Amino acid sequence: MKKKVFIKTFGCQMNEYDSNRIYDSISKIGYHKSDDQNNVDCYILNTCHIRDKAKEKVFHEIGRVKKIYRGKNKPIMVVAGCVAQAENQEVLNRDPYIDIVIGPQSYHKMNDILENHIFKKKIEETEFDSVSKFRYYDEIENKNDNVSAYLTIQEGCDKFCHFCVVPYTRGPEYSRPFNQIINEAEQLVKNGVKEITLLGQNVNAYYFKANNKEYRISDLINHIDKFNEIKRIRYTTSHPKDMTDDLIECYKKNKKLMPFVHLPIQSGSDRILKLMNRKHKVEDYLEVYFKIKKLNPDVEFSSDFIIGYPGESEKDFSETMKLLEKIRFVNSFSFIFSPRPGTTASNLEMVDSEISKKRLIIIQEKLFNNQIELNKSMEGKKIEVLVENKMSDQNKLFGRNKYLSSVIFKGSENHIGSLVNVRINNSNQNTLFGEIEKNMKAA
Ligand code: SAM
Ligand code: SF4
Ligand code: F3S
Repeated sequence: MKKKVFIKTFGCQMNEYDSNRIYDSISKIGYHKSDDQNNVDCYILNTCHIRDKAKEKVFHEIGRVKKIYRGKNKPIMVVAGCVAQAENQEVLNRDPYIDIVIGPQSYHKMNDILENHIFKKKIEETEFDSVSKFRYYDEIENKNDNVSAYLTIQEGCDKFCHFCVVPYTRGPEYSRPFNQIINEAEQLVKNGVKEITLLGQNVNAYYFKANNKEYRISDLINHIDKFNEIKRIRYTTSHPKDMTDDLIECYKKNKKLMPFVHLPIQSGSDRILKLMNRKHKVEDYLEVYFKIKKLNPDVEFSSDFIIGYPGESEKDFSETMKLLEKIRFVNSFSFIFSPRPGTTASNLEMVDSEISKKRLIIIQEKLFNNQIELNKSMEGKKIEVLVENKMSDQNKLFGRNKYLSSVIFKGSENHIGSLVNVRINNSNQNTLFGEIEKNMKAA
């Protein structure tokens, strides 16, 4: 019998990848993806625990689902993802509406759990078992046929930055076997995918050894580069300490690797980096930056910043601002420090929240200005865009440029999946607007 499932996904790209793989997996037991969340047999929340009030957001969402289904048959309510992992029993005990709590390393058990599920019997599954999860994924066809697709190559983290929950929610670092990843990339190519983004919480720490041969992320990039159908390769998120020379070299040799590095630094102060347990100095970051820029000046960098980390003084913050004078970061993220339960920094004395808010406004103004300037510099120019889809409410197409900025322009649907040249007419902070250059043929 056909059943319907809806997954609401929060958090990072790894959750998006997992949600797609859960859809692939549970289709084997008769569940079909539904876009209508108001009428399903199973409702899954794939949650994120990275910043404040994550748990509260989950209960808020469940309250919403309860309202939708009042007077109707209750769906099987599943809480998956990083909140499920970190707060397992507490989540399950707090609201009887929740039937199943399942952590990110247990998705290979999802089909059995759903098939054997009986209402009123609560299930909690939060073991760390990446090997079994990916071995299982390997046997399930990846049906993603979007123009741009994620492909998880590495999961978990051994770095234990003092502010971060990821080592606790995703477990120890695990790299998938090289061949398994290449097989999945081939599958994506067959589906019509044109851009692959390799994923991991520490994606550039990827390391796999087989038959005395060592494989790193650079080997994956170089291999995927050989697929004619693949037009662009990206990866995220990387750690400055793992930016090895073989990966840096790819920015010179590999034309499909987009010239855009998302490389979080968190702070421009060595003192704060040490307190955060980041295991590198600002100087090490700058060294990576200049090495890549020397090989390929077209490369732009983006970063994540944590503002108001416990102990951050005015001087520390001004060093972060000074770093922004040295590197013109684009497409970056900045957040006020949020204490996470169980992490080393959770019990430290917080910076006054008004001071943190002021600092956040200052850094965001600078980062947003960089973005506006970069986008303005493209006005009047012709840029290459990978066309991803048609906009739902307008007769327009959506795509991205090499720096991952959104581009909106008029054009026919048969351009979807192609690289086209778009002349940019105007822009704002988030989006470039333009039109396809005449004489361009759709592929
Ligand atoms: N592995 C990546 C790295 O080391 O740079 C980052 C992964 S983390 C999922 C994404 C971002 O969330 C981090 O770069 C950091 O800026 C932010 N973040 C993590 N924990 C945080 C916290 N407790 N408070 C505020 N931001 C946090
Ligand atoms: Fe979190 Fe990244 Fe640090 Fe790992 S390296 S603990 S994922 S911030
Ligand atoms: Fe959030 Fe877990 Fe990703 S905490 S950022 S969904 S790894």
